[in-house]
Amino acid sequence: MTPAASDATVNPDQLRVLFATSECTPLVKTGGLADVSAALPAALGALGQDIRILLPGYREVLAQLPHSREIARIAPLAEVPGARLLLEQRAAGVPLIVLDCPELYDRSGGPYQTDAGVDWPDNALRFGLLSRVAALLGSSGSPLDWQPQVVHCNDWQTALAPAYLHYAPGAGAATLLTVHNLAFQGIFEPGLVAALGLPPDCYGTDGVEYYGKLSFLKAGLQFADAISTVSPGYAREIQGAALGFGLHGLLSWRKDALYGILNGIDTGLWNPATDPLIECHYSADTLAAKAGNKRVLQRRLGLASEREVPLFAVVSRLTEQKGLDWLLEITPQLLALPAQLVLLGGGDPQLERGFLALAHSHPQQVSATIGFDEPLAHMIEAGADVFLMPSRFEPCGMNQMYSQRYGTPPIVRATGGLADTVVDCNPATLADGSASGFVFHDPSAQALLAAIERAAGAWRDSASWRALQRNGMARDFSWVASARRYTGIYAQLAAQR
Ligand code: ADP
Ligand code: GLC
Repeated sequence: MTPAASDATVNPDQLRVLFATSECTPLVKTGGLADVSAALPAALGALGQDIRILLPGYREVLAQLPHSREIARIAPLAEVPGARLLLEQRAAGVPLIVLDCPELYDRSGGPYQTDAGVDWPDNALRFGLLSRVAALLGSSGSPLDWQPQVVHCNDWQTALAPAYLHYAPGAGAATLLTVHNLAFQGIFEPGLVAALGLPPDCYGTDGVEYYGKLSFLKAGLQFADAISTVSPGYAREIQGAALGFGLHGLLSWRKDALYGILNGIDTGLWNPATDPLIECHYSADTLAAKAGNKRVLQRRLGLASEREVPLFAVVSRLTEQKGLDWLLEITPQLLALPAQLVLLGGGDPQLERGFLALAHSHPQQVSATIGFDEPLAHMIEAGADVFLMPSRFEPCGMNQMYSQRYGTPPIVRATGGLADTVVDCNPATLADGSASGFVFHDPSAQALLAAIERAAGAWRDSASWRALQRNGMARDFSWVASARRYTGIYAQLAAQR
């Protein structure tokens, strides 16, 4: 591989890092991992690191990259098919290595599931291949002449890479595994160990075995040289039984190699002063213009054009994690405030049905859009008054940061990254200028309702509300500080090799 092969002459501190991921904005996205996989490598590149992204060539990805060119071929391994590596050299971006294997990735549907929401039956092979290739590129057997010093894996889909590297002959790259969500672990039948070309002796309690199954995530937590997760709060929480999803023992055993690094946001993409996806641009100094976005949103979604009623919003995967069943439970009280509610999301069929039924019975007050719609997500951030994220747990969360930047104070539960990024509004925090949203503690519908009532009360006091909006908009959620911390970990890992 030729591009930037001699970059090392430019910056002696430059590190070569392969960022392996299963989704990346704007090519393929189901959640925050895609946003991180675009913005963090870009921030690392801006700090001078030589970073490349490895991403599966799903049908929708290849369709957006007609000019990528083949740079290598990968031979099959056991039942893992062979593949081609394509390079997409983006003018202003991080080089992208696309893993092309039509047998595994060329199909309609999502990256992990069919259109009907069922996991792909061959996910072990699909992400086994991704992990295997990440490891291969970090090993002496790599077909490329660019070799990373660190392979940075993300979530279970790439978490088998440290296991492959552990069993590969010769010296290989160091590995960092970032856990974006411990709830997804990539658990499969043990027979797949052989199908994936891993040695039989890896299947033990100090290997990839997890309660009689093969676990991709456990493998990564076991074999990665370092582990990180996406907020300091979540790094603490996952070492305890309540949020450790059965892996807290291993995580606390590895605590010296476990880092909690807060995600940042792409402040270029998410900027209400320039966002091309919103109607009326505004900044902290021109907040009155935000009202235009509320009008546009109400009109587009068929809600009553009310100025004097607060508009609450949700943009989310609809899963147990997000606590939206609590919201459904208290909607009669929410609507009686009075208030409007806009929801964009998809997932759990029961939640989808619940919000659709509510919108059907209150068409002027409630709108529910089921599906994934990036432009609408931006319009909601800009047009809503209050953003709702009542998560049961939340490793980091991106939307509460986007909403603060858009002057749309969030209501969040005090968990994980939500607790790390939102300062509760009360007389003391309003006085010291830190208040930026509403934080509740109890995991219950009633606690959420109390926070909603507090927010609705605060919204009616326009001077305090403006202060709250401005505090949130002034916060620095950029990637710079966190990208430096990742760089520090890479440097330490590379030096240990
Ligand atoms: P998670 O990754 O757990 O889903 P995050 O808050 O980290 O939660 O990130 C979610 C990301 O996905 C945000 O960028 C959010 O705007 C986006 N998102 C979630 N659901 C939708 C949807 N239905 N349409 C558009 N964007 C969505
Ligand atoms: C996961 C988490 C979310 C986090 C995102 C990006 O999907 O659920 O909290 O923000 O990953 O790290």
